[in-house]
Amino acid sequence: MPVVSILQQSPVQTVDISGFKIHVKRDDLLSDYFSGNKARKFAYFLDNDFPRIKKIVSYGSVQANSLYSLAALAKLKNWQLDYYVNRIPSWLKTNTNDDILGNYGGALTLGANIIEVNDDEIANHGNNLDDFMLNKAGHLTHEDLFIPEGGRSTLAQYGIEQLAQEIDEYCQQASIKQAYIMLPSGTGTTALFLQTWFNQQNSPHQVLTCACVGDGNYLQKQFAELNNNSKHWPTILATRKKYHFGKLYPEFYQMWKQLKDETTIEFDLLYDPLGWQVLLHFIKSHAESHIVDRGIIYIHQGGLVGNQTMLPRYQRKYSNTTHR
Ligand SMILES: Cc1ncc(COP(=O)(O)O)c(C=O)c1O
Repeated sequence: MPVVSILQQSPVQTVDISGFKIHVKRDDLLSDYFSGNKARKFAYFLDNDFPRIKKIVSYGSVQANSLYSLAALAKLKNWQLDYYVNRIPSWLKTNTNDDILGNYGGALTLGANIIEVNDDEIANHGNNLDDFMLNKAGHLTHEDLFIPEGGRSTLAQYGIEQLAQEIDEYCQQASIKQAYIMLPSGTGTTALFLQTWFNQQNSPHQVLTCACVGDGNYLQKQFAELNNNSKHWPTILATRKKYHFGKLYPEFYQMWKQLKDETTIEFDLLYDPLGWQVLLHFIKSHAESHIVDRGIIYIHQGGLVGNQTMLPRYQRKYSNTTHR
């Protein structure tokens, strides 16, 4: 494994998109292995020693960015990673050549132990992988470190507060008094701990997000599990229609391509197309109040390893539109 370097602080780049000036916090540049949000969520584990631990136990989607970063964390610490998944799609199993690694292939290369749990095993322990894992977590030893799906844990607060501080410092330098800070959510952990920190500092910055996994109600439930004081919850912007996480939508590819053409920055294909679509709609629908002048920051949370498998899927499905 090459040396893992993690930047102390991520830069901010100002871009023009659809004629609007947006400040992009480039967390994607933090590290190749812990890009974006994983560098923040796993900072606590990277910065501390855990002498008793020998193994990480976690679970989630086989295409998750957290799988790749957990594999890197385990490798770095000389631990084993047992990562439970419900299903490995056959197109992915056969697609792990050196060119197209993605999160799954990359994690295998880093030595991850990816365990496919079948429906019968899950049914024996409840309704879903969450129940199955809850049961599993009850039987772990003191040598095992259990990390919930997507790093959704209060331990993530440590690294996310560093991100909040960096944004606060940037706003002071750039004379932004009341920023809108946009980031698309999965578990909502990053958005929630950002807004909590700003509130605790009595800072007027407002965190905006959208639900990429499930809907707004599901995201609020996720917030409530980490902090039941709804005063600290970020503002959830509605999506135009119901999107299923991980599915392909031509408008997502078009948004991704527009971002690449207009900013030269590559964003991820799972979260960012929806995040930008919702943000641009928000800006346009508040045109009369000139909210762009207030200062809008978009957090690029990385996830580009996943594009290695998402991009060929888009090209296969919409080959006549994706080459334009
Ligand atoms: C690239 C990217 N963007 C956004 C998210 C969503 O983050 P959260 O689960 O903290 O809402 C993730 C997931 O961790 C991610 O990998």
